Amino acid sequence: MTRHFLSLLDMTPKELRLLIERAMTLKKILHRREPHEYLRGRSLALIFEKSSTRTRVSFEAGITQLGGNSMFLSPSELQLGRGEPLGDTARVISRMVDAVVIRARLHSTVEAFAAASQVPVINALTDRFHPCQLLADMQTYFELRGDIAGRTVAWVGDGNNVCHSWINAARLFQFTLRIATPKGYEPDAGLLQASSGAASLVDTPAAAARDADLVVTDTWASMGQEAEKEVRIQAFAGYCVDNALMDLARPDAIFMHCLPAYRGLEVAADVIDGPRSVVWDEAENRLHSQKALLEFLLA
Ligand code: CP
Ligand code: NVA
Repeated sequence: MTRHFLSLLDMTPKELRLLIERAMTLKKILHRREPHEYLRGRSLALIFEKSSTRTRVSFEAGITQLGGNSMFLSPSELQLGRGEPLGDTARVISRMVDAVVIRARLHSTVEAFAAASQVPVINALTDRFHPCQLLADMQTYFELRGDIAGRTVAWVGDGNNVCHSWINAARLFQFTLRIATPKGYEPDAGLLQASSGAASLVDTPAAAARDADLVVTDTWASMGQEAEKEVRIQAFAGYCVDNALMDLARPDAIFMHCLPAYRGLEVAADVIDGPRSVVWDEAENRLHSQKALLEFLLA
């Protein structure tokens, strides 16, 4: 059976922990400039329906460092853009490459591609999940603060795709996730229910942040929601992660954001650019954790 990575739930807690350990090792190997071409000659296809800086660069650099190669394919340049069925595209491409990384508007697109693919398919963000982001976020927490099991994480902001992956992570890594969103912007109720022992909604950003070990947020208007931006800015008033909110968290609490960030909206500039922010480590760890993922799926 071909293993895919469409959501964090495609891996067991044990596999995820091993993967994060491996990511830390690969980071050291790279920083020591030691060769590590463990996937020599292997090919990766990247199909992105949406913009990307971190995900694209980390996958392309990562497979190159591992001795393989990548091709970036925008749907409009593939026959897909002229109506070739997704399943046919998946059957053809998966006979030629070793894995496919897809960023899609709809989660169902990634699922349909995986159903027809002979090789592993990796979700590089959909409307529902962003599991690769959580690999990097978990690595970052483990590196800086140790095991996240038993810790408390505050999600302040939109109940979006990244929030959904944090909800899955809470269950798999056994931490407490407190989610504060404005009314109408809550995460999916079914997902929350499935992680009910670990993740829950709270009424205010303060209730989420109080005594938390980690405070996380994301943009208020995700890709594809540009037209809602003004309405969302009104709805999210009071949800900016600023220093007053961070001061409610534990003294050694850290701040994460998957980026891209909008200073002055979901996060104050002095938080994201301040001493409690770990966003640059988080971004770098996209590279190391996805190399570990590629090794896991391909080696
Ligand atoms: N965090 C993240 O996925 O960034 P990109 O959209 O730049 O890939
Ligand atoms: N929630 C954001 C994450 C970007 C990495 C989006 O979907 O646009």
